[in-house]
Amino acid sequence: MNILIKNGTIVTSNRTFSSDIYISDNKIAQIGNSLNISESIDKTIDAKGFYIFPGGIDPHVHMHLPTSVGYSSDDFESGSKAAFWGGTTTLLDFVTPQKGQSLTNALNQRKTEAENSLCDYSFHVSPVEWTDRTEQEIKECIKAGITSFKVYMAYKDSIGLNDDNIFKVMQVVGKAGGIVTLHCEIGDKIDELRNELAENSKLSPEFHPVSRPTHTESEAVKNAVEMAKKANCSIYIVHTSAEKSIKYIEEAQKTGQIIYSETCPQYLLLDDSKYIGDFKDTSKFIISPPLRKNEDQEALWESIKKGVVKTIGTDHCPFTLEQKKNGIDDFRKIPNGAGGVEHRMSLLYTYGVLENRITMNKFVDITSSQAAKIFGLYPQKGEIAVGSDADLIIWNPETKKTISAKTHQQNCDLEIYEGIKTIGAPEIVISNGEIVVDNGKITRNKIKGRFLKRTI
Ligand code: URP
Ligand code: ZN
Ligand code: ZN
Repeated sequence: MNILIKNGTIVTSNRTFSSDIYISDNKIAQIGNSLNISESIDKTIDAKGFYIFPGGIDPHVHMHLPTSVGYSSDDFESGSKAAFWGGTTTLLDFVTPQKGQSLTNALNQRKTEAENSLCDYSFHVSPVEWTDRTEQEIKECIKAGITSFKVYMAYKDSIGLNDDNIFKVMQVVGKAGGIVTLHCEIGDKIDELRNELAENSKLSPEFHPVSRPTHTESEAVKNAVEMAKKANCSIYIVHTSAEKSIKYIEEAQKTGQIIYSETCPQYLLLDDSKYIGDFKDTSKFIISPPLRKNEDQEALWESIKKGVVKTIGTDHCPFTLEQKKNGIDDFRKIPNGAGGVEHRMSLLYTYGVLENRITMNKFVDITSSQAAKIFGLYPQKGEIAVGSDADLIIWNPETKKTISAKTHQQNCDLEIYEGIKTIGAPEIVISNGEIVVDNGKITRNKIKGRFLKRTI
């Protein structure tokens, strides 16, 4: 489709300017004020009064995640539809093999599961054990277009790795020039605290944050930073939630170590008072790490401003109330996770840009450009430039909404942002040169996202 977008204000991570954009063959073909177009134009969009941002990239989602209570409630189709709705056009999900399954086999299986994604996508691949084949399998994944690998310091009884094996992963990935992403929580300490709480019958959701205090995250971050330094490997800390973690990350960055950090809207906007109340109202906030205190939120906003935290992911992983009820008598049995892929851009625009915590260029950087740069997708994604994929959001800065489970696109009866008001939303979303959302309607259900092969 050939699309001409006229009169918009283009916002990238480092520039804001008025210009027209011409899209042809799924790519941005021209940018300028008096374009010379010889082909016939299929559609002209007047973007006067709107901003044009690069399509959002969510570097942390879990669609169709298998758990003991069934799959997380969004599959790739429903989750990517919700992502489009909110202005996100690229998703980075995960490959989590079964023990004994090869990384490449799990990657191929996950690619099949993701075939119904509307958004373009790639994966971080998780070694969940270290065997004599793991090094070779990591190299094969890199050849297949994967540049990032994920390890869990928590969840030791299932997908977590011990420090020795994490170090081995870092050595192999570091040598190949890739990046290791980490879920940083000291699993053993958390297990100890959980057992103590259970012995005292403290098993309602209110005790979830008590079982995962900030030091269980920050000490894990400190270990991860030290291991990465020794292994000479770039790392990316997912869902950073605690002020103390930020301090360790910032100190390491100052020494020149390549360490990136992500946080999520829930850690910026919601606090641990959400765990007080009925099961129905509190169980939806059972996420790991848990929601923190006001001081942590302020430290996270400040770290975004300073460039210590580089990206905003959502850790989108919704479960229904029925699934959460698995832990009605014991918070340890509540599946961990909540949705958010749909709201990331509007929340960051409303509570970041409009509240003067971040500039509009920073907004683009943390919701799109940095993820593309860190994970080997730039400038194909995360940029508005000639030759980049035509993934664009035409953003209406006036649209007012109130988030609710009754109206959201996410496939879940729970909503952690219930009742929160936002200003600013996509008017039109373009993915690979096709209009996929137009004035509050999904226009292209049949669109097929592509697996993005990345290179180191
Ligand atoms: O509670 C969470 N975050 N669930 C999803 C899995 C993870 O740890 O990222
Ligand atoms: Zn995690
Ligand atoms: Zn996650």
